[in-house]
Amino acid sequence: LDADNSDAREQFNVVIVGTGAIGSAMARDVLKRHQAARVVMLGRSNGDSPRDSRLTFVAFDASDPDSIVAGAAAVEKLFSRVHLLINTVGLLHSESQQPEKNLRAIRADNLQRSFQVNAILLPLLAQAFSRHLRHEEPAALVSLSARVGSIEDNKMGGWYGYRASKAAHNMLLKTLAREWRISHRNVTVVALHPGTVRSRLSQPFLNEKSYPKRILTPDESAQALLGIIEGLAPAESGSFLDWQGKAIPW
Ligand SMILES: NC(=O)c1ccc[n+]([C@@H]2O[C@H](COP(=O)([O-])OP(=O)(O)OC[C@H]3O[C@@H](n4cnc5c(N)ncnc54)[C@H](OP(=O)(O)O)[C@@H]3O)[C@@H](O)[C@H]2O)c1
Repeated sequence: LDADNSDAREQFNVVIVGTGAIGSAMARDVLKRHQAARVVMLGRSNGDSPRDSRLTFVAFDASDPDSIVAGAAAVEKLFSRVHLLINTVGLLHSESQQPEKNLRAIRADNLQRSFQVNAILLPLLAQAFSRHLRHEEPAALVSLSARVGSIEDNKMGGWYGYRASKAAHNMLLKTLAREWRISHRNVTVVALHPGTVRSRLSQPFLNEKSYPKRILTPDESAQALLGIIEGLAPAESGSFLDWQGKAIPW
């Protein structure tokens, strides 16, 4: 999906869902890469979203289905075709919720909240933006997952709600990719792992001295992810890739 290689298209319409560290860095990078980009960011607040005349902020709450539909209606007032929809919303912890270290820590309401935000949002976004994404130009629906959502890769245990809701997210995405291969042939649907990235979501769990993996800045991650998105081919629809473009086992 390379906006600059499409002569027929003057405008590159992008919707970024989530105004956190990675979502905002992706917005900045899209605006830098594509002069003709128009970006809408959906979020609970402006967050770190860049100030730019080509960017519009629309308020929404990922756990309220009506607000997702209203967000799509607000986008429609600005442009009817979407070329790139990126879901960057995620919940690992909040004031009232911490990732579960063990079975004793499981609470039904926390699990439900994790599933609502990390998994159920994705198909509701796809429903709401189905019409905007189906057109004859190349388009992509990209949703940020996490390597810890890989069932095969679960060696450490813990983080029940986050892991399970990201695994559910992945199955919903794969199923959507199968359906849209027929009904939305122009849309490539992929799940991406952004790497370990410094953000509000990851901050409490990054102890640099003991942390074994490289920690990326949001800008580094966004640049890598947009590089992958630009190189996506329709045959890759339904894949789960990391920030370096390597496939992750489901
Ligand atoms: N950072 C990492 O190391 C890492 C690793 C693997 C995967 N990921 C994934 O990458 C994505 C982006 O995370 P990030 O690192 O950029 O974290 P972040 O800065 O905390 O961003 C997450 C965003 O999700 C939003 N959000 C949560 N619940 C919401 C709701 N009910 N309605 C609307 N927005 C809601 C937050 O909104 P508020 O600002 O209003 O709270 C925040 O803007 C997430 O899907 C995360 O799971 C991150």
